[in-house]
Amino acid sequence: MLSSTIKERLDGLRTPFYLYDMGLLERTLEQVTRHSSRYGYAVHYALKANFEPRIFEYVRRFGLGVDCVSGNEVRYAIESGFPPSGIVYAGVGKSDAEMEYGLRHDIFAFNCESRQEVGVLNGIAARMGKVANVALRINPDVDPESHRYISTGQADSKFGISYREISELTAELGEMRNVRVSGLHFHIGSQIRNMAVFAKLCRRVNTLYEWFAAAGFSLGHINVGGGLGVNYEDPETEPIPDFATYFGTFHKNLRVGDCRVHFELGRSIVGQCGELVSRVLFTKTTAGGRNVAILDTSMTDLVRPALYQARHSIENLDGAGRAAREYIIAGTACETSDIFRDEVTLPELRRGDLVAIKSTGAYGSVMASRYNMHDIAPAVFSDTLVRASLRGL
Ligand code: LLP
Repeated sequence: MLSSTIKERLDGLRTPFYLYDMGLLERTLEQVTRHSSRYGYAVHYALKANFEPRIFEYVRRFGLGVDCVSGNEVRYAIESGFPPSGIVYAGVGKSDAEMEYGLRHDIFAFNCESRQEVGVLNGIAARMGKVANVALRINPDVDPESHRYISTGQADSKFGISYREISELTAELGEMRNVRVSGLHFHIGSQIRNMAVFAKLCRRVNTLYEWFAAAGFSLGHINVGGGLGVNYEDPETEPIPDFATYFGTFHKNLRVGDCRVHFELGRSIVGQCGELVSRVLFTKTTAGGRNVAILDTSMTDLVRPALYQARHSIENLDGAGRAAREYIIAGTACETSDIFRDEVTLPELRRGDLVAIKSTGAYGSVMASRYNMHDIAPAVFSDTLVRASLRGL
């Protein structure tokens, strides 16, 4: 990936840092827009995946909408120049102030996640003399076949409205004058690589769509959420996810009349363009004979391995010509779970070597913490890095 091709330019930089390949981001966005526009689909970027201003600016240039999950995200999107008409706002717990903010700006849709939330939104909108655009987030009970911490659409999950409550909700809606149900929303989970899962989601959506249509709702849109996964095991062979097959799966399986179909993609857009670049601080051998390499980064920069047992591909950028050895790759935090890989074979690691942890563009920097009073790793962008080096020539 990028870090190995521009390694000599990285040598002088202080580690750790997130390195973003802006060329790859651009090519990924081109693919997303090309394949979604074939079917007239609307794509919202899931801002939670990465909110670096420069990345967000690229997303804006490609004309995507935004999927937000907090009032601050809605505000940031609006202040970054995204039209409110392209903003969807989900979240199991929206505060009154957050709802007011979204209402004031007439966002495209509040993706409401409980009957109570719809009622509260109706009351706030009435007070403000507004009508809220609502997509009902229905929990469709589909297993995403992903890690349980990133599964959101199964029956007992905290997300969405239970399909068992739909009749009560639609009866209540008859009394509400200040919400307009313009769509249905679904999101079953993240890092989904099996297209059969999305096909199953489509079949559930079709049934629910028919139910709402029969109940007299004239829906304008169906939002099927995000979730398309990336190839963490072997990112070089698949730097850009297969958007043609992904959108094609929905086109083939979804039957929702004239509704416009919306998507909320995060990981698949930014996941592969980021790498966490660090250096080896120390190496040692355990009593059991295992080699340990300690990097100058930790779970405070990248929590995915500790939280979801995620396995990111790792490269020793200084390893050319060295014999391979098996390592535990550890971080500096005072936590036993702060292990990036517990068994990985790499060219021998020595103090000072540059090490790249790949596929960290999504849910990497945004989940950083200051635990142990660590600094937050800065971002370095491939295009400005190139400009800086050209200036130096
Ligand atoms: N829409 C909703 C309502 C969501 O909750 C999410 C992600 C997305 C869209 C975007 O999903 P994506 O296309 O990125 O899969 N921190 C975890 C992932 C959490 C995902 C949260 N929701 C990780 O590092 O794997």
